[in-house]
Amino acid sequence: MTATQSDEQRIMLAVPQGEFVLRRNPHDPSLQAWDAADEFLLKHLDEAKIPQGKDRVLLLNDAYGALALALANYSPYSWSDSYLAQQGLRDNLLANAYPVEQVTTNATIDFPSVPVDCVLIKIPKTLAMLEYQLYALRKLLHHDTRIIAAGMARHIHSSTLELFETIIGPTTTTRAVKKSRLVLAQRDHSLNEGQSQYPESFELEVDRSYRIVNHAGLFSRDRLDAGSRFLLENMAVGEQYQRIVDLGCGNGVLGLIAAAMNPAATLLFCDESHMAVASATENFIAAFKSSRGAEFRVGDGLQGVDDESRDLVLCNPPFHLQHSIGDAIAWQMFKDARRALVSGGELRIVGNRHLGYHAKLKKLFGNCATVATNKKFVILNAIK
Ligand SMILES: C[S@@+](CC[C@H](N)C(=O)[O-])C[C@H]1O[C@@H](n2cnc3c(N)ncnc32)[C@H](O)[C@@H]1O
Repeated sequence: MTATQSDEQRIMLAVPQGEFVLRRNPHDPSLQAWDAADEFLLKHLDEAKIPQGKDRVLLLNDAYGALALALANYSPYSWSDSYLAQQGLRDNLLANAYPVEQVTTNATIDFPSVPVDCVLIKIPKTLAMLEYQLYALRKLLHHDTRIIAAGMARHIHSSTLELFETIIGPTTTTRAVKKSRLVLAQRDHSLNEGQSQYPESFELEVDRSYRIVNHAGLFSRDRLDAGSRFLLENMAVGEQYQRIVDLGCGNGVLGLIAAAMNPAATLLFCDESHMAVASATENFIAAFKSSRGAEFRVGDGLQGVDDESRDLVLCNPPFHLQHSIGDAIAWQMFKDARRALVSGGELRIVGNRHLGYHAKLKKLFGNCATVATNKKFVILNAIK
C-alpha cells in the first residue's frame, strides 16, 4: 500500500483471477483488506494452475475473503476463528455479486469432515493456532493434496517451518516477494506421531477449584492475564446483578467467577472468536454442570442482544486485532454495553492505565468511578 493510493484503489484487489472489491470489517478506508502474501499466493496459484476442475479447496485464516473471492468458482470451504472475518467475507461476497452460500464457512471450531485436494493457509498470528490447524488438517489430506501457506516474511520463522516439517512433512519456502513468502508442504503419511497439545488448561490461581480450558487461539492461554485477575479481585457482587454479561469473554473466566459470586444471576458470554466461546462454554459447564442458566454467543460485540436487558456488563477490552492495534473495538464495546444495560445497570472494565478509558466512559455514561488501581491497571465502573 502506498501513501498516494486513493480510497478506491485501496478496495480494489487486482489479481490474475480477476478484480474484486474488498473491504475490512469493520471498514477502515485507510487500510487494505488484503496483503502482499495474498497477492503472491494468488499469482502462484495462477501460474501453477491450482486448483483445477472439481478440486475441493479449503482456506484457513483468509482475513476478509481475498482468497475466497478469487477462488469463488471452486466453492471453497473457508475456516476462520474470527466472526468479524467471516462477516467481512459475507459482505465482500455480496459486494462482488456472489451469493453468500458460494463459500461455506464454519459455525464451530470444527474442521470439515471430507478430504480436500488443495489447502491454502494464511499463516496465523500464533504458533499455537498453526499447530492446532496442522494437526486437524492431517485427517483431511490425501497423497496428492496441495498444501500452500502464505504470510508476511516477518511472521514466518524457523519455528513456523519446523511445525510444517514435523506435523505435515517435507517443506520448502520461496524467496520473498514484497516482503511475503510462500511455504509449500507435502504430506508424509508415515509421519503420524504426536497430537495437538491444544486445548490446554491451567488451574485458576484465585480459586483452585476451577480448571480453565483454553483452545489454541485464545488470549492468555497458559495463565490468568494480570488484568483479568485484577478484575476478578474487584468483582461486582450484589442482588441487583441478575443478568450479567461477559463481553469479549475469552475463556469466560470473568463470567465464571461472577456467576460463583452472584449465585442467582444468569450469564451471557459473547466473543467474536469461535475458540473463545467454545472454551467459555466448556469451562462454565465443567464448573456448574447444567444447574446454571447461561447463554453463549459468537458475534460482534453485543449485536443481537436486546436493548435494556442486562444489569451488569464485565469487560477486559481487546487492544490487538490480528496484527494491528487500536482502541476502536473497546469504544464499540462500551457503546454496546450502554445500549444493552437497563437504567441503573453497570459496566465494569479493566484496562491498562495509559489507555485513557476513564475519559471515554465519562463521555458515554456521564459518570465513571475508579474502583481500584495498581501499577499497571485500573478498574472502572460506569452506571447507566
Ligand atoms: C483482552 S481479551 C479478554 C478475554 C477475557 N475476558 C479475559 O479477561 O481473560 C478480549 C477478548 O475480546 C474478544 N473480541 C475482540 N473483538 C471482539 C468483538 N468485536 N466482539 C466480541 N468480542 C471481541 C477477543 O476475541 C478476546 O477474547
